[in-house]
Order: sequence, then structure tokens, then C-alpha cells
Amino acid sequence: MDDIYEIEETEEAAKESSVVSIVDAIGLNEGVDSWQTVTLLYNSALKEIGTKLEILNDEFQHVHRYNPIEHIKSRIKTAESIVKKLKKRGYESTIENMVKFVNDIAGIRIICSFTSDIYRIAEMLAGQNDIRVLSIKDYIKNPKESGYKSYHMIVTVPIYLSDGAVDTKVEIQIRTVAMDFWASLEHKINYKFEGEAPEHIKRELYECAEMVSDLDARMMSLNEEIKEYAEGASD
Ligand code: GTP
Ligand code: MG
Repeated sequence: MDDIYEIEETEEAAKESSVVSIVDAIGLNEGVDSWQTVTLLYNSALKEIGTKLEILNDEFQHVHRYNPIEHIKSRIKTAESIVKKLKKRGYESTIENMVKFVNDIAGIRIICSFTSDIYRIAEMLAGQNDIRVLSIKDYIKNPKESGYKSYHMIVTVPIYLSDGAVDTKVEIQIRTVAMDFWASLEHKINYKFEGEAPEHIKRELYECAEMVSDLDARMMSLNEEIKEYAEGASD
């Protein structure tokens, strides 16, 4: 019995160390085959994170009768926009550079009702054993100059292919419905003006961002108050 246990343990240890990065998985192979593997990995990573989020949301519904996630959007960056990003940063357009330097090839956006849900979801995801957090940018505590607010994480999730696991990067953006409303319009405006929007529009947008923060804070405290009532009623 003891022998079998030891063998199993050794295999477990070997498994742990066999998770490789995409760069290691494709090597220096720049062919169509590698590109297809890369696409498959990023698509799979979106599915894995999507499932994790669905499970967390279902569990929340089951335990607290409440859904922290309003909706989820995910996308794979187009080859065209990956190349554009590499060029802008002065890198050659190789598959190796793409997977090394472009962190948002796979992107998932989680829209929540309340700011507190954002931190709860981020914590629950980061706490999962197979998720590795590479970086966090908290634009809620430190909004961008434009007024942009959102919580960003770059994580990796292992994708199990036939001959081993590959750690695959995903950019996760978590924001409230109100922050998302603001960011969509700001993005549209910046796109129209190619990033050079007139000063008065920028100012107006910034003021709207402050209104978004105020709205989020008030909605959250109203929700807290309602919860207290509900808890009081069930006592
Ligand atoms: P890129 O902007 O993608 O090159 O990444 P970065 O390294 O500067 O990372 P950051 O976390 O700042 O931004 C990543 C993503 O967040 C962007 O691609 C946008 O989707 C979103 N984002 C960041 N800043 C803004 C902003 O001011 N307005 C809007 N609408 N979206 C933003
Ligand atoms: Mg981006």
C-alpha cells in the first residue's frame, strides 16, 4: 500500500512541474501550425475562466440568493490588432513576441452590479490553485487621468493538451455596470477623435466619471441598507 502511495505522490510532483509556458510549448516554430495551437490555447483559456466564473456565480446564487455577475463578455484579439500593438512597441511580428509581450490576446470583461462584487470576484479567482496572478492594476482605487475606472488582472490558467499543460495568459477586466457604460462611451469618443478629443469633451467625460463613482457608492450603500432590512426580517 505504502509503495503505491509513494508512486502516486511522485507522479503528482512530476505533474506540477510539467506545466509549461506557451513559448516553451511552441518552441521557435513560427508556422501556421503554431499559430493554430496558440489560437486554440487562448480560446480554451477563455472557456476555462468563463466556466470558473459561471460556477462562482451559481454558487453565490445558491448560498446568498444573489448574482454578483451581471454579464460577461469575452473576445480574442484580432491578428491585425496584435500586429499593430507589437509594431507600436517596436517588436517584430513573430508568434513568440505575441505570446510574450501581448497580454490581452485573450480578454474577458466581467460586469458587476456593485463595487464590492468586483473585489469579491477578483479575490475568489486569485485564490484558486490553478490560477496564477501575473499583475493587478486597480484603476478603481487609482483611476486613470481620463477618469477610467476598472479592476484589471493578468492571470494564467493551465490548459491541458494531449501532451501536457500549458499556462495561458488572460486579461480580466472587472467593472460595474456604470463604469462599463462610461468606458464604452469614452472608448467610442476616443475612437472618433483618434485619441485627441476636444478639451471640453474630455472635461465633461471626467465629470461623468465622477458621477459614476458617486452613483456606484450610493447604489452600494442602498444595497447594504436593504440587506440589513432583509436580515432583520428573517431574525
Ligand atoms: P493596452 O492599453 O491594452 O496597451 O494595455 P496597458 O498595458 O496600457 O494596460 P491597461 O491595463 O492600462 O489597459 C488595458 C485595457 O483597459 C485597454 O486595452 C482598454 O480595454 C482598457 N482601458 C484602459 N484605459 C482605458 C481608458 O482610459 N478608457 C477606456 N475606455 N478603456 C481603457
Ligand atoms: Mg487592450
